[in-house]
Amino acid sequence: MNQAVAVSTNLLPSTDDEGEIDPERFHLTTHLESIPINTLAQDVLSGFAQAPKSIPSKYFYDQRGAELFDAICGTEEYYQTRTEKALLERVAGDIVTDTRPTDLVELGSGAGHKTRVLLDHLTDRVADPRYVSVDISEQMLISSAGSLLRDYPNLTVHGVIADYDHHLHLLPDGVRRLIAFLGSTLGNFTHLEAIAFLADIARGMKPGDRVLLGLDLVKSPAVLHAAYNDAEGVTAEFNRNVLHVINRELGADFEPANFEHIARYSPGRERIEMSLRARHNHVVRIGELALDVPFGDGEHLHTEISRKFTRASAIAMIRAAGLELANWYVAENDYFALAVVALPGDRSLG
Ligand code: AVI
Repeated sequence: MNQAVAVSTNLLPSTDDEGEIDPERFHLTTHLESIPINTLAQDVLSGFAQAPKSIPSKYFYDQRGAELFDAICGTEEYYQTRTEKALLERVAGDIVTDTRPTDLVELGSGAGHKTRVLLDHLTDRVADPRYVSVDISEQMLISSAGSLLRDYPNLTVHGVIADYDHHLHLLPDGVRRLIAFLGSTLGNFTHLEAIAFLADIARGMKPGDRVLLGLDLVKSPAVLHAAYNDAEGVTAEFNRNVLHVINRELGADFEPANFEHIARYSPGRERIEMSLRARHNHVVRIGELALDVPFGDGEHLHTEISRKFTRASAIAMIRAAGLELANWYVAENDYFALAVVALPGDRSLG
């Protein structure tokens, strides 16, 4: 078992005009010391040996990939972000009233608008509220903490540097935690990965804790297709970004223009399947692995799945993880849902 190591806070987030931060209000814990992290090299070796070839979607997100994802969220076609935000604005007060959390634990980079919608209610209702932000990037945790500490004077912020594959059962304890995993990121996991992820969270939960999941719902294939094939080509660039990452990190010579962005909705599997399709036969050299990788004309490199949920499929996943659906809120256009999830039979909140 990994030991949690509290790191001293000489890397305090800046508060701009507010001056010094009280170190009592911010600290960092890292769980990253001793885990066998799957490196890009290992993932390329194993993913490119499969047929079809594949690469985990987490490698989209270098600095440029994160910026491209932000740009996707602002496109006309990508309804998810604004729909979830509007839904959260409508129901966050009810969720916080019903679940009475003392701690908001957010998985993934926080401090954005959605975090603040929840924090507005939490910091109003609780004398000593805490925001726990969990991310693999220390830089992300530190940069997001500063403005929260400034804007919410009664808030304590705890950054946790952790890998979802290993540490979810080690989330810091609290009196009553609302553990938020928003943005339908769960949809980027396979069914079994999502169950394992939720089961890992469940292992560390106690009565009174709740999980809040943002889930993109099954809808018209045309709407889904447009969301992953925006007219400006931002999603195409985001998809190809994984090739830039492999080029930079592993000395490869992918020519991104040799690959076409493909994103199709599979109604049978209720998911978007995203890939890069080679425009012609060619060989890519991956210098650091001393590897020549042939791509045939029309061959797909699978880069991401994005599953879409129904209430029934969400319940099946939640139950398989040993949890129970406590509440289900749906956007006015039926495009997106927020699921509040509890331990089975937990009536501790009345
Ligand atoms: C982060 N995740 C929920 C996005 C999604 O919709 O699956 C990633 C994305 N891929 C293409 N566009 C956006």
